[in-house]
Amino acid sequence: MRVLAGLDGSLLDPEAPLLRADDLGALRGDGVFETVLVVDGRPRELEPHLGRFARSAAMLDLPEPDLDAWRRCVRAVIDAWPVGEEMALKLVYTRGPEFGDGSTTAYAMGLPIGEGVRRQRAEGVSAITLERGFAPGHAERAPWLLLGAKTLSYAVNMAAVRYAQAHDADEVVFVASDGSVLEGPTSTVVVVNERTLRTTPPSSGVLPGTTQGALFRGAERAGWTTKVEPLRVEDLRSADALFLTSSVRRITRVHTLDGEALANPERAREVQAVLADLYEAEYI
Ligand SMILES: Cc1ncc(COP(=O)(O)O)c(C=O)c1O
Repeated sequence: MRVLAGLDGSLLDPEAPLLRADDLGALRGDGVFETVLVVDGRPRELEPHLGRFARSAAMLDLPEPDLDAWRRCVRAVIDAWPVGEEMALKLVYTRGPEFGDGSTTAYAMGLPIGEGVRRQRAEGVSAITLERGFAPGHAERAPWLLLGAKTLSYAVNMAAVRYAQAHDADEVVFVASDGSVLEGPTSTVVVVNERTLRTTPPSSGVLPGTTQGALFRGAERAGWTTKVEPLRVEDLRSADALFLTSSVRRITRVHTLDGEALANPERAREVQAVLADLYEAEYI
């Protein structure tokens, strides 16, 4: 099942070719994207996603996306999707054909939620820490690295996940060259101690997560403390619970880190249930 729409809101055949062979999105990963979770016909955190989409585009010097057109395009895909079925909705925006007239490529595509994602949501994941090789100050010093932009150049992120899988783990927590914690290849790291949630600052070159944002808003409303501050790997191990959050996987528990089971899985499951409720009550 796939639903595909162009930026003008017209539905397109998802089985038919769409990109030109010389599209810079395909040739160089030169573009940006978002993945939005849609439940019961409602896109979750759509405006934060669109805001990040526009910021990513600006970091790549792409023409400013027409967000009203994207909202219409999102609606067209949702309207064509079977009622009651969850969907991962991808927004894709590339620099368009090489040596073209400057016109960009833009489309939205709805995809079903895979079995693997459902399993990870329910059972949690094992993760390993892997170096990403940048120092925390790199994002500001080296803007051409596009740290914190959601670009189509995800080959490295996907290679990290394959590396983890080849080493008996499901997922990855990237660490900076100074050993501080960054993020997952497609997720934000969230650590819980008692009633305090912590995550790493965007200034360290991580993507600001929309799921983490909604979760922190909900937690604050419920009287929890939230902190955005540098984390060390020891903080992950000593936490009451450790999560990787992302739009499609929501709040996924990490049960094993670098081959060692994290302490007190019962407590971590309880925390997960509480956070899931906070998030479900909060997202917009
Ligand atoms: C690198 C990276 N960090 C964090 C996230 C989590 O972001 P969100 O919660 O907005 O899906 C993603 C999502 O795919 C990501 O690719």
